[in-house]
Parts: sequence; C-alpha cells; structure tokens
Amino acid sequence: MNKPDIFNQSGLSREEFLRDYWQKKPVVLRRAVRQSDLAFLPDKNDLQKLAEHEDVQSRLVITEPTATGKTRYQVEYGPFSAEDWRHLSSVPWTLLVSDVEKWQPSHRRLLNYFPIIRRWLFDDLMFSYATCGGSVGAHTDHYDVFLLQTAGTRQWSYGQHPDPDAPLQTSSELKLLRDFQPENTAVLTAGDILYLPAEVPHHGIALDDECITCSVGLRAPAESELLSGYFEDLAATLPEHRRFSPTPQESATSHPGEITSEDVQQLRMTLERHLALDDTQLANWLGRFITQYRNLFFEITPPESTTASLEQARHGIQPDPFSRMAWRQLKNDGEAELFVNGQVYSCSHTLAQALCDEQRVNRDHLLSLDSRDRQVLEQLLESGEIQAK
Ligand code: SIN
Ligand code: CO
Repeated sequence: MNKPDIFNQSGLSREEFLRDYWQKKPVVLRRAVRQSDLAFLPDKNDLQKLAEHEDVQSRLVITEPTATGKTRYQVEYGPFSAEDWRHLSSVPWTLLVSDVEKWQPSHRRLLNYFPIIRRWLFDDLMFSYATCGGSVGAHTDHYDVFLLQTAGTRQWSYGQHPDPDAPLQTSSELKLLRDFQPENTAVLTAGDILYLPAEVPHHGIALDDECITCSVGLRAPAESELLSGYFEDLAATLPEHRRFSPTPQESATSHPGEITSEDVQQLRMTLERHLALDDTQLANWLGRFITQYRNLFFEITPPESTTASLEQARHGIQPDPFSRMAWRQLKNDGEAELFVNGQVYSCSHTLAQALCDEQRVNRDHLLSLDSRDRQVLEQLLESGEIQAK
C-alpha cells in the first residue's frame, strides 16, 4: 500500500501543488486523508477533557446574534471545567485546543500525510469542535495552514490571495476582519483539506453538530525575526571595546556637525563585515534559532516525564513531544549537528536522522551506538528532551 500522503487520492500532484498553490493561493484537496486514519483522532469528549487540563491552551468562542443582525463573538480561555460544558446554551459555540499532538503524541502520526512539511517549521495540530453554526469569525492567520476536516461538515468562505493589510475590526479580541468579501466557498466533509497560504482571509462555519477541524499549522519566522534574532546573537558575542570609529575631522575648516559620506561608508563596512558569513556559521545559527523559535511565543509546561537510563529503554527511545529538533549533515562523512531546543550536539548522521526524521531510535540501533552517540542520548535523557520507551 502507498505511504500516506495528502496527494495520493486528491487528484493534485505534489509538483502541481508546489508550482501553483504553495504560498500563492488556496486549494481544496478532497479525500486527502483516509477514513480509517481519521477514526482515531480526538472527538468532542477528548477535546473537552484536554481543555480541562490546566496547562493545555484552549479557547471557547461563543457566537451570539445581535439586534442589528451582526454576529457577536465572545471568547473565553481555558482551562475549563465539566460544569462549563453543562452551562453552554443553545447558541453556537466552538472549542479550540492547541498542541494536541504534544499532549496526545499518538496523533502525531497524522503528520505522515504531510511529508511536504519541513518538520522544523511545523507548529502544532490545533483541533476545533463546533456545534452547528459555530465559527470563530472571518480572519487571517500569519502562517500557512492545512485545514483538515476530521468529522462532520464545515463550510469555508475564503479569499483568493494573501491580503496582509486587510483592515481589522477595532473592537474585536479575535482580530476579525472589518470587511470580508469571500471569492470562494467550499463545503468540506471528513478527509477533505483546505490549504490556505498565510494572510488569506477565511471564515469557517460548522454545518452540523459533529464538526471537527484540525489545523495543521506551520510557523515560519518573519524576516524581521530572523534579522533581529541573528544580530542579537551576534551582538552578544562582541566585546564592548569593538566600537564604531569614524575618521576624525581632517581640517579645521570642515563642518564638525556633519555626517559625511565617509562616515556612511565606514558604517557600511562595519555592518558588511558582520554579514560575511560562511554556510557553516549560518546553518549552525539557523538550527539553534529555529529549534527554540516557537518557545519564544508560548510558555508551555510539559507533563512530567520520567527519566530512565538508556539501559532501561527496552524498546528504544523517542523525542519528548515538546522537544523541537532539527539536524544537518556535515561535510565529514557520517557526521552531523543535532539541534535540540536551541542547543547543538555533534553526533553521527544516523542518530540525528533517526531522532529528527523517524522520531525514534529503536533498540537495535541503541545497542549499536558508539560512545559519543550514547553520551549525547544520555544528556538528552537527563534533560528530558528524549524519553525511554
Ligand atoms: C476553526 O477550526 O474553527 C478555525 C480555524 C481557522 O480558521 O484557522
Ligand atoms: Co484561521
């Protein structure tokens, strides 16, 4: 049987998707995920239980019609209690739960359908359950997203192109669009996906009481974040005595208050010196930056993980669901740099690949590790970045 891939059944090839749609315009992929794989994903009760946990990020959006015919959206933030669900009235509501694959790691399997996603840009699986008419309003997101309908039916209205400057309603906590004029609509049932590039206006409304949507989200850093992150890190390595030193006035007749073109050239040379980076430095910085990027936004308290020794790992080891990892191959054959939550480790390329790409190191692999790779794993176990199985 084919490996799972959202392009297997959908009538669109990966090449066509990349050429015509990726970061350009939205597209609907029908029957992208098999029904048999949807059956294990969270249902309404699972999502409510998760949203009762104090460390899980969740939101409840209640839609209320107003006298003027407009809809008012009211947001409440989790954790919720069983009592809260009992008090929900008959007005439509949506419960959104973030990071589901971290709290329930078996759902990470869904990512097998998305070999197209660079794992180090993957953000989270956010599930929403809505009653009929439930919606979070018309909005844009800063990131590309694959909206997978996992149960029930949802109608999406959406624009055709990214619109980063779309004006927002001033009063809305949800950052809703002031004037949403959709160019497309599509009704999605279980297994269908709507791909939306970042900043494309969209609005989803549940058409029944079974509606569950999974947002497979990416989080690419803004260029401004790359720049400020890079220069902040570089600045931290420069001693204070390295200073900008424009040439002193050459003659008493020149203007002491003027910034001259020579001063500007001097500044340009100073900045350019710091931009002359080789690939190794750049790759090393990117690996450290990107594996802690998401942690800059959210402080998540992961569940307590039990620290076991490598000897106790009877079935191998796997990354902690909250760890962010990436790796890069070094020129020396078989060598790699492994990046874990902003730290870098030297190890074999087979170990880095197993951890980051396959998300597991099996028992046989563990038994064959050399002492350096074992040490890396011991350190990662100690700090809770990986878990024994
Ligand atoms: C939802 O799942 O209800 C909303 C997801 C989105 O529009 O980004
Ligand atoms: Co959205």
